Amino acid sequence: MLEQGVIVESSFKRNTVIAVTMATSRQGIGVVKELSKTNKYQIRAITRNIKSSKAIELANLTNVELVKGDLMDPESLNKAFEGVEVIFGNTTPTKGWKIFRGSIVRSYEIEQGFNLINQVKIAYEKGQLNHFIFSSISKAKNPLKNDPAPGHFTSKWDIEDYIEKLDLKKITTVLRPVSYFENFENKLPGYTISKEVFPGIVGKNFKWQTIAVDDIGKWVRGVLSKSEKYKNQSINIAGEELTGLEMAMTLQRIVSAEEIQTNYVMIPRFAIKLLEYDIGVMADWIERSGYGADMNKLKKIQNELNIVPTSLKDWLQAKLETQNKVRNTWSKQWKSSQWKLQWDK
Ligand SMILES: NC(=O)c1ccc[n+]([C@@H]2O[C@H](COP(=O)([O-])OP(=O)(O)OC[C@H]3O[C@@H](n4cnc5c(N)ncnc54)[C@H](OP(=O)(O)O)[C@@H]3O)[C@@H](O)[C@H]2O)c1
Repeated sequence: MLEQGVIVESSFKRNTVIAVTMATSRQGIGVVKELSKTNKYQIRAITRNIKSSKAIELANLTNVELVKGDLMDPESLNKAFEGVEVIFGNTTPTKGWKIFRGSIVRSYEIEQGFNLINQVKIAYEKGQLNHFIFSSISKAKNPLKNDPAPGHFTSKWDIEDYIEKLDLKKITTVLRPVSYFENFENKLPGYTISKEVFPGIVGKNFKWQTIAVDDIGKWVRGVLSKSEKYKNQSINIAGEELTGLEMAMTLQRIVSAEEIQTNYVMIPRFAIKLLEYDIGVMADWIERSGYGADMNKLKKIQNELNIVPTSLKDWLQAKLETQNKVRNTWSKQWKSSQWKLQWDK
């Protein structure tokens, strides 16, 4: 029997509370899904619209709660970060598309980033926050050599500098992803990925580092598993390092049984610059400097953090399987509706 007033230490370990900004973005969704699977975190998924279909999908996952927050509204972030122990921070340069400007606006991203870092600082000073993971963008050793880097890269590096200025590096891990595989699914007519077309923004013989966007979630899970070791570190993260031709060959091998020829098709640089100037500058930059992820070093860290990167081959195969399933469902539905029509007669 227990004496009154004796405090018994519970063996029950409470989940770590983590806030994920831009939770409905491609990165955010990957992070929330991966952390939800671990059952170790209580996840605050921050979005401007808690009623969107993407937000509702996240809310249906285990240990996820939706919280309204806007990176342009510091007060909303302040509330969303109340009592959290970890923050995953991300920003976007993308505003509505305008002629002669495109959609990428450097100052828009910088304002979000500075708001975010100021609120990280406040949360840290309150005493509960102990780890901040910032998702930036890959940085070659000397990215500014000769020519300018794209605005949506330098905005993120300016935010990284601001982390240092506010003396937050000691609690920060900067993850710097390269281009997503998901970009191959762009909607440009003639340049979206298919069994015949493997689209790219750089010349066919340039090495182009890429990553599956969901793998950013694996990196966040991995870094958090060795939190102390990975604070005060910045890592360029990538899953593959292949030329355009090698990527197209990867798809070619998968569809070879269907006797289909896959070609690497480069989107003309002038067209990219016309539609989204900064992406054109980015393509120049990739050809000139490369992203700079150290693939050998990454292998070692991935082993340590139990991260199995998605290969381009597996990603392509999964996409084709999903496509086939959708097609089969449609064809079954079509057949059953035909059948039903006959039956109805
Ligand atoms: N594409 C690539 O290959 C690549 C590679 C490396 C890094 N990146 C970087 O990754 C970042 C995120 O990209 P993504 O593709 O994951 O994003 P995304 O899928 O385009 O999603 C953007 C999200 O941002 C949220 N958002 C927009 N304005 C916001 C604001 N003011 N406050 C809070 N949330 C806001 C929106 O969510 P709600 O409407 O629900 O709030 C939306 O879901 C960008 O900075 C990009 O440069 C991209």
